[in-house]
Amino acid sequence: MSIIRDNISLKNHNTFGIDVSAKLFGEFTSIEELKNIITDKNYQQEKLLIIGGGSNILFTKNVNGLALHNQVKGIEVIEEDDNSVVIAGGSGIVWHDFVLHAINLNLGGIENMSLIPGSLGASPMQNIGAYGVEVKDRFEWLDAYHIKSGEMHRFDNAACEFGYRESIFKRKNKGQYIITKVAFRLTKKHQLNTSYGAIEKEIESLNITDPTIKDVSNAVIKIRASKLPDPKKIGNSGSFFKNPVIDNSSFEVIKAKFPKIVSYPAENGKIKLAAGWLIDQAGWKGKTIGNYGVHKNQALVLVNYGGSSGSDIYNLSEEIIQSIKETYGVSLEREVNIL
Ligand code: EPU
Repeated sequence: MSIIRDNISLKNHNTFGIDVSAKLFGEFTSIEELKNIITDKNYQQEKLLIIGGGSNILFTKNVNGLALHNQVKGIEVIEEDDNSVVIAGGSGIVWHDFVLHAINLNLGGIENMSLIPGSLGASPMQNIGAYGVEVKDRFEWLDAYHIKSGEMHRFDNAACEFGYRESIFKRKNKGQYIITKVAFRLTKKHQLNTSYGAIEKEIESLNITDPTIKDVSNAVIKIRASKLPDPKKIGNSGSFFKNPVIDNSSFEVIKAKFPKIVSYPAENGKIKLAAGWLIDQAGWKGKTIGNYGVHKNQALVLVNYGGSSGSDIYNLSEEIIQSIKETYGVSLEREVNIL
């Protein structure tokens, strides 16, 4: 039986390193344990918060309820054909460990997403992505515990309604499910995606002519480490904002004023702007206020140098949103969940 403790600091359970406390805190290593805790009459009335890697949360206040750290582990091969293998893992597995496990089995498709912080269970929640690949490109299904009915439900790719850093679990089904297992269809014969300039350059600089998925993973790790702060050293949550998607006519207006603006074609003829560029060019990059600020190498990342509060960082994000609106007429949205 899992132990539920009172008044526990969550500082080591969020990559921002914000020191808030949870009224009640526990861990679960299986669906059975999870069910036992949340159906226990002592805890049934408590507001529930499931924590994975804690890499996408900004705590602005103490958690007045039951915080449960997901520790469901285990990886299994589900099926295999000539071209692909479906592997599934417990949602509490560290995402990067899952990527490395796949690479060690010589299974390809998720190597571009090496070193993204967070857990396997959180990866479909916001359809994480990097360097030209998103979870939705390789995702097969997930199993989730429906809190209200106590039933297990399976969601295939379409049922997750994936979008850019979006899924049904951030919208319609928000707060209703606990993801327990996630499966990916990975390749045996690999199609490397090195189209992202920096990956190609990194591989060339190592004089590798016939790169493997391991080489791509190593290149991604190197690029990320050079640009993004390591949450073990400086509190942060990766990209704090999403890259905004706007329509073409608004884009033309902005481009006339800012000809160097960085943009990419998006779905339905829309244009995705690099929020990092917008924030950088508006003068925010490297700005430090006391013990928090905007990272010096990547303006999309807000950082806690130690001891700052979630509200400080939230207020900074508000200021940035307002400044971007005033400068470019563009509305930024947060990628990070505010609690
Ligand atoms: N840029 C600047 N200044 C900055 C930051 C970026 O001018 O301070 C410019 C860059 O020079 C580049 C463009 O903006 O031309 C895009 O920058 P980058 O390649 O670093 O990617 P991003 O769009 O800022 C997204 C993801 C990252 C992911 C990278 C690489 C989002 C919100 N972020 O960032 O994901 O690692 O692409 O694929 O989509 C995360 O979600 O936590 C995350 C780190």
